[in-house]
Amino acid sequence: PIRGALPIALKAKEEGFKGFILPESNAEEAGIVEELLVFGVKEITEVTAFFDKNIPLKPTKVNIALQFKRQLDLSEHDFSDVKGQEGVKRCMEIAAAGGHNIILIGPPGAGKTMLAKRLPSILPPMNIEEALETTKIHSVVGRIKTGGLICRRPFRSPHHTISDVALVGGGAYPQPGEISLSHNGVLFLDELPEFKRGVLEVMRQPLEDREVTISRARFTVSYPCSFMLVASMNPSPSGFFNDSSSPSRSSAAEMQRYMGKISGPLLDRIDLHIEVSPVPFDKLAEKRKGEGSAEIRNRVTRAREHQTERFKSNTKVHYNAQMSTRQIRNHCVLDAASAELLKSAMKRLNLSARAYDRILKVSRTIADLEAKENIEAEHLAEAIQYRSLDREGWLG
Ligand SMILES: Nc1ncnc2c1ncn2[C@@H]1O[C@H](COP(=O)(O)OP(=O)(O)OP(=O)(O)O)[C@@H](O)[C@H]1O
Ligand SMILES: [Mg+2]
Repeated sequence: PIRGALPIALKAKEEGFKGFILPESNAEEAGIVEELLVFGVKEITEVTAFFDKNIPLKPTKVNIALQFKRQLDLSEHDFSDVKGQEGVKRCMEIAAAGGHNIILIGPPGAGKTMLAKRLPSILPPMNIEEALETTKIHSVVGRIKTGGLICRRPFRSPHHTISDVALVGGGAYPQPGEISLSHNGVLFLDELPEFKRGVLEVMRQPLEDREVTISRARFTVSYPCSFMLVASMNPSPSGFFNDSSSPSRSSAAEMQRYMGKISGPLLDRIDLHIEVSPVPFDKLAEKRKGEGSAEIRNRVTRAREHQTERFKSNTKVHYNAQMSTRQIRNHCVLDAASAELLKSAMKRLNLSARAYDRILKVSRTIADLEAKENIEAEHLAEAIQYRSLDREGWLG
């Protein structure tokens, strides 16, 4: 097999080639390119036989519509498996609706990993452009498994021992890293403080730019990396919330060391901070199922439709989290009372200018979920509430 069969095939079509011969195992990957005849071969003798003796090759054509249908049918995790946790589910719905980054904070066993794994099930399906973009990146690392086209949003959860090159991309022949393999999907960093600090630092720029550029002496490559960051962590090194009722309270120094592992600038880029408390036993034992992913996804999809409409004249921005400062000024206008509310929250929580912008974007999404034209005070108040890590005294 070769790497990058899809980008090469796209290039071939662009250059006006009619057909393309490549190893059989890459044929499906390239076969999604329309108006290009793709021939997969097992042996080079098949190629010589084609040219010398006119023995025909069999073209591979991928039925894109069928691919979409097949892959969207199988979603193994569903929110209906989660008992209780309505508040966390609400927060994840907002994250999904606006493409915002989110961190789940809670003690061991509270269900953080379980919840995070269900996020893709409420994201709207990818459109064909998104599917192609994502498949191209995966094609470069040579990982297209079945059917040629990736139609489901990626969900990547690298282990905390990952290197910075593996995370953001790099190498002598620069390869995309996990952040690009998550493009149009979710990058899940479970147990965030376990990651090496330097590894998290290199993510800061790409998180902002949604693109990563790798420079070499003679060339530079850029890979897109527009992903939703989903992180989880325990509230303290002991694993539990560090309040006065906690039996294993960590000292201020221990807390500082623990929190110091994740830098302020990184946390600042996470729009939604949500505490996950364990569900009490009687609730876990309940037969009643929670709301399922399909219903939540319908609301998310509707909220996204408002965003698509809002940004229709802009090719780069599709959802609220991607708004530039200028767009925030245009689309997130507050009335006087709300402006005052945000101003006092900024002071109380000691928020940065970036946090200010991010709160506005989240408010916009909450308003979109209610199909409201304007951001109202209650939307803003809810958005502010999701900055718990900025809250004074949270660290004990
Ligand atoms: N609300 C819930 N509804 C149903 N099952 C739950 C719920 N919360 C937790 N569980 C069960 O508890 C298990 C442990 O949850 P999970 O692994 O997600 O916890 P965690 O918060 O990630 O813990 P850790 O910090 O140790 O990684 C889940 O696999 C699930 O079986
Ligand atoms: Mg976990």
